[in-house]
Amino acid sequence: MLTTAPSNVLVTGAAGYIGTTLLRRLLADGARVIALDHLERGHADQLPREVPLIVGDVRDPDAVRQALRLFDRPPDACIHLAGLIQVGESTLFPQMYRDVNAVGTQVVADLCLEAGVPALVMASSAAVLRPLAGIADRLDEDAPVGPESPYGSSKLSGEHTLRAAAELGRMSTVALRLFNVAGAAYGLAERHDPETHLIPLALRAAAGELPPLHMFGDDFPTPDGTCLRDYVHVRDVVEAFVRAARLAMQQTASGACEFQVFHVGTGHGYSVLEVIRACEQVLGKPVPRAMHGRRPGDVAALVANPDKLASVLGIHPDLDLLRVVRDAAQALGLLDG
Ligand code: UFG
Repeated sequence: MLTTAPSNVLVTGAAGYIGTTLLRRLLADGARVIALDHLERGHADQLPREVPLIVGDVRDPDAVRQALRLFDRPPDACIHLAGLIQVGESTLFPQMYRDVNAVGTQVVADLCLEAGVPALVMASSAAVLRPLAGIADRLDEDAPVGPESPYGSSKLSGEHTLRAAAELGRMSTVALRLFNVAGAAYGLAERHDPETHLIPLALRAAAGELPPLHMFGDDFPTPDGTCLRDYVHVRDVVEAFVRAARLAMQQTASGACEFQVFHVGTGHGYSVLEVIRACEQVLGKPVPRAMHGRRPGDVAALVANPDKLASVLGIHPDLDLLRVVRDAAQALGLLDG
C-alpha cells in the first residue's frame, strides 16, 4: 500500500492565497513542485524562488502541457486551484465563471489523463450545495447539490468533469468542497484584490487600512440575524489537499480508480457578528461598521459536517476562531511580535 506523500506535484493557481501556502507545505515534505498561474490575480512575489513557474491560463492546453513537460515523468498528482472565487462577481459575469472554472477544469483533467497523472484534486466549494432550511444542520457529502450562484454551478460542473475522468479508470480524482478558508500559515496573509472576505476586511477596517465594514444583512433566520459560516484554517485546508492527493494516488495504484468528495470545514458555524467580535478581541480595537442590505447570492448558513474529513483523511480542523483570526492578523502585520 502506497502511503507516501506525493513527491512530484503540479499546482495550478499556485500564486493565490491557498496556493502559496500549499507550496510551502509541499516543499516542507521535500516534494518537487511546478506552479502554473496566469498571475492576473495571484501574488508572484509570494511564490518560493525554488518553484518553477509557468505563466499561463488553465484554459490554454499549451500552457498546461508545458507545465506537465517540466517533470521527468508524469507527476504523482495535480492539485487544481486555479479559478475565480467570488460569488457576487459570478452573478455579474456568469459566462466568465463558466469559462474559467468549468472549461479550465476540463482542460486540466484531459491533459492529466493524456500525461498519465494518477491523481487529480480540485478546489471545489460549499457553494455547490443547496443550503438547508434548518440552520442547525451540518452539510455532509451526501447533502443535495443545488448551487445558488453561477460560481457554484461552475464548480459543480468541474466536479462532474472529475467524476467522468475517474470513470475512465486511469486516474483517481477528488473534489474538496472548501467552506470559508481563513487564517494564515507560513506568514502568508490573505490578500485578494479587491478583498471581499470578511476576516481580512474586518481586521483591516479596525486597523484603519480600509473603510468601515459593510455588514451584509441582519435579517437572516439565524440567532443574531447575520449569516453563519464555517471558518476553516488554511493550514488544515492545505493538509487536506496533500492527504487527498495521497489517497487518490493509492486508489489508482490499487487499480480501483474513484471520484471522492470531502467537505473541508470545522462543523461549527460563526455569525458575522461573532467574527467581528473575535477581530475586535484580537486587535483590542473596534471594527468600524455600517449595516447594508443583503449581498446577492448570500445564504443564511453554510456549515460543514467534517466527519468524513476526519475519518478518511485524518484531519481534525482547528476549532479555535480566535486563533484563526489571530493568525490572519499576524500575517497582515496588524499585531506586534
Ligand atoms: N460579509 C459581510 N461584509 C463583507 C464581506 C462579507 O457582511 O464586507 C459577510 C457575508 O455576507 C457572509 C460572510 O460575511 O455572510 C462571509 O463572507 P465572505 O465573503 O468572507 O465568504 P462567503 O461565505 O461569501 O464565500 C466563501 C468563499 C466561497 C465559498 C463560500 C463557502 O469565498 O468561495 O465561502 O462558504 F463558496
